[in-house]
Amino acid sequence: MTETPHHPPLAGWTAVILAAGRGTRMRSALPKALHPVAGVPMVRHVANAARGAGFDQIVVVVSPEGEAIAEAAGDATAAVQSEPLGTGHAALAGVSAVEDASNIAILNGDLPLLTAETLAAAAQRHLEADATLTFVTAEVEDPTGYGRVDRKVGRVHAIVEEVDTDADTRSINEINVGLYVARADWLRNALAQLEPSTSGELYLTDVVAAAVSDGAVETHRLASADEVQQVNDRVELARAEAAMRTRVHERLMRDGVTIVDPASTFVDAGVEVGADTRLLPGVHLLGATSLGSECEVGPNAVLRDVQGGDRVRIGSSTIEGSTLADDIEVGPYCHLRPGSALERGVHLGNYVEVKESRIGAETRIGHFSYVGDADVGQAVNIGAGTVTANYDGERKHRTEIGDGAFIGVDTMLVAPVRVGSSARTAAGAVVIDDVPPGAMVLGVPARIRPDEGAESGGG
Ligand code: UD1
Ligand code: CA
Repeated sequence: MTETPHHPPLAGWTAVILAAGRGTRMRSALPKALHPVAGVPMVRHVANAARGAGFDQIVVVVSPEGEAIAEAAGDATAAVQSEPLGTGHAALAGVSAVEDASNIAILNGDLPLLTAETLAAAAQRHLEADATLTFVTAEVEDPTGYGRVDRKVGRVHAIVEEVDTDADTRSINEINVGLYVARADWLRNALAQLEPSTSGELYLTDVVAAAVSDGAVETHRLASADEVQQVNDRVELARAEAAMRTRVHERLMRDGVTIVDPASTFVDAGVEVGADTRLLPGVHLLGATSLGSECEVGPNAVLRDVQGGDRVRIGSSTIEGSTLADDIEVGPYCHLRPGSALERGVHLGNYVEVKESRIGAETRIGHFSYVGDADVGQAVNIGAGTVTANYDGERKHRTEIGDGAFIGVDTMLVAPVRVGSSARTAAGAVVIDDVPPGAMVLGVPARIRPDEGAESGGG
């Protein structure tokens, strides 16, 4: 994602993102702008591109129920379009919310692949040509569904919408991408004068014809059509998704990440991964996930909102909302649920479930165990089959295990309960009372064993 400006700021420029359409062709209860592409709402991708290009102000045009869309766009001014009466009407609503700007860019909100570079290049072109209006075009193999760029002896004459095409214009494969830059004062005026199209909607594209008669129209033609995939329906959503995933993979691979099988690897747009990390087939890195360098993940692992350090090895496992320090091993077949924090050097073997717990450095949980609502110290050994009984049917309770404790196989820790540092529990102990530091408990319920140093059966 391009969150930080890497282009000279466009001082005095505003970007207006149109995201108030009904999105009827999506056939969805979710507004189109909120459908995720590589895990990030479509409108957020567009807003990020505008932010990356360095616009002073970003306005998002939303429907009256569209607060969630404005929120998803990030730091932006919301402008409400009272009714979806077309892109021209939406642009008018957006432009009314623009503070003073010299130039305004209008972006369709369904172009998730648009980059900051393209925005900056279009703006540059507009300035150099001293144009009234500049719009972005591309050559595509199949122009169906796009407005066609109608030129007369090379010069732009108008944009012809799909419904208005005839035999001649239908075959034009230079299309209107849905990104326009115009002089602010001229644009306000031109939008205010738009007349309804044959469909009854106000078409933003009609301002192009107006600009042709009023002054200089410029086009910025994209060299490749990689960014122009719009999302009108779910078929196009899947195409945008595939293109975005490829883009994310290529960014990671160029930064030194090995992706053994890109086709079976899914990485969300905001994810960061360090160099020399290997992603094996079937890996999903989702949401706000970041991993350090020299890690190995997979095959078949799902990480969502996970912050991982360096040299982390994760076998087939599911990890959600957790942090993993450096030099950690997890899995195969572990489930870390939200709120788990593994400190440096922790080893989780197979079939371990952890929930809302801190696991101290160098602690080992080698085999099937459930550790929930627990605070586990450093260098603790937790034997196979250990369970924190954290729920009494009404409330959740916490378990504390001190540094260097040794929990024997099949220990039940009935919370709330505390096991002191360097204490031991014997195999099969059911611990209902706190265990003092250094003590050894055994039995059901577990009692302190007076003579120390007995066999205890760890895992
Ligand atoms: C539009 C262009 C077409 C271009 C294509 C490229 C027009 C008339 N046509 O067509 O030339 O090739 O995009 O992607 O502009 N919106 C509102 N309010 C409305 C209607 C739409 O905010 O009343 C928003 C939508 O949420 C969307 C954007 O404007 O983000 C574009 O609308 P959409 O209906 O997708 O336009 P297209 O028919 O694809
Ligand atoms: Ca569209």
